[in-house]
Amino acid sequence: MIYPRFRLYTRFLQYLQAFVYILGFRRYRGTRQTLEQTLAADLQREVVVFNQCRVGIYHVLNELIRRTGRQEVLMSPYTLFDVVNMVIAAGGIPRFIDVDGESLHPGLGSFSKALRKKKNVVAALVTHYHQAAPDLAGIHALLKKSGIPLLEDCAIAFGGSYRGSKLGAIGEYSFFSFGRMKNVSTFFGGAVASRDSSMIEHLEQVDAGYPSITRMQIFKALIYSLIIETITHPITWTLFFHHFFAYGYKNQVRWIEFLIRPDKDIALKTELPDSYKLRISDVQCAMILRGLKREKSDRLKRVALARLYSEQLGGLEGIVVPCEPVLESDPMLEFPVLAEDRDQLFLRLQSAGIDCRKYYYRDCASLPAFQQYAAPCPRVRELEDSLIMLSVYPGYPIRRARRAARIIRESHRAKA
Ligand SMILES: Cc1ncc(COP(=O)(O)O)c(C=O)c1O
Repeated sequence: MIYPRFRLYTRFLQYLQAFVYILGFRRYRGTRQTLEQTLAADLQREVVVFNQCRVGIYHVLNELIRRTGRQEVLMSPYTLFDVVNMVIAAGGIPRFIDVDGESLHPGLGSFSKALRKKKNVVAALVTHYHQAAPDLAGIHALLKKSGIPLLEDCAIAFGGSYRGSKLGAIGEYSFFSFGRMKNVSTFFGGAVASRDSSMIEHLEQVDAGYPSITRMQIFKALIYSLIIETITHPITWTLFFHHFFAYGYKNQVRWIEFLIRPDKDIALKTELPDSYKLRISDVQCAMILRGLKREKSDRLKRVALARLYSEQLGGLEGIVVPCEPVLESDPMLEFPVLAEDRDQLFLRLQSAGIDCRKYYYRDCASLPAFQQYAAPCPRVRELEDSLIMLSVYPGYPIRRARRAARIIRESHRAKA
């Protein structure tokens, strides 16, 4: 059996909840409040849920810029391009900072250098990846000294922690995503957590002004998810879709390659699009609450697979494993490997029946859409060209992970 790179975390009972809601049998009243209270208790912060994480980022930044009159946002360019759009649409100026060495994160030194140079900084936005930034405590202390809030983007790190604190419970404002592809998933979903009560009140007000997502929109989202479920089911994947996509990659058929890229339409947004201005429905909150029950056991399964990769892939020429997975703390949605020969390795794995992906984050500092904010970030550029993500989702068989590691080992000599 060939397994796809990714499977949705949404389960049968969550789809059933959506069906029951669409058909009007149940409304799931009160789940929004329960979800906000559950997250708030977990993070020891107040929480507002949104229909999308990015909308929370937009509103927090927009309000901070209004309050301070400052505009510059320190951030890594290695993120979802639409996060950069939210900074710009909110009235901010992204100031991109390169990552350190082989890490996926900018280090303390880079933040302190940027702070010395920039005088108009409103906030620093730190993205948590498979692991939290190792320098997070130092970066936070440095920002605090300058009176600049730390914003934690935990969109792909829900459930992770750093030195005993939950990710999202460290900075002044933090953001979570419960979108379709996330580890706690509904069709769309996001949240902001903070101890700043006036910001929370502001967020509640703006969100209350949005129309609720309609049953029809939920129905369409449900159908889209079911299509993804069908494509990525190991049986259909093995029989057809793996071969279809592997053919597309091998022969560089652009439209096939583009079918599953989330970064197809990279364009500058100077305003929050109307399509983002929606209020999350109670059924999405009910689905998230259900997903939360499995979050911890799913995370432990992922980290166990990640440890297998990390043990097997150390010490190879041309391969860098940028992290040591930690069972107690790491979110580890996928396992990153940096390969000098990334594109060849990707094709080799595909042709051996191992689906994996080149990641969808880009060096936003060099994208034509953000030309105005361009900054040289050569290490992020290298990341973009060398990163490959190996699958660790719960249900991904250990024997497939071993096979992926074996193929990589066979094509890369051990370091002398
Ligand atoms: C780092 C990061 N931040 C924010 C988001 C946006 O999340 P949402 O789709 O819920 O707006 C994503 C989505 O993948 C992300 O990867």
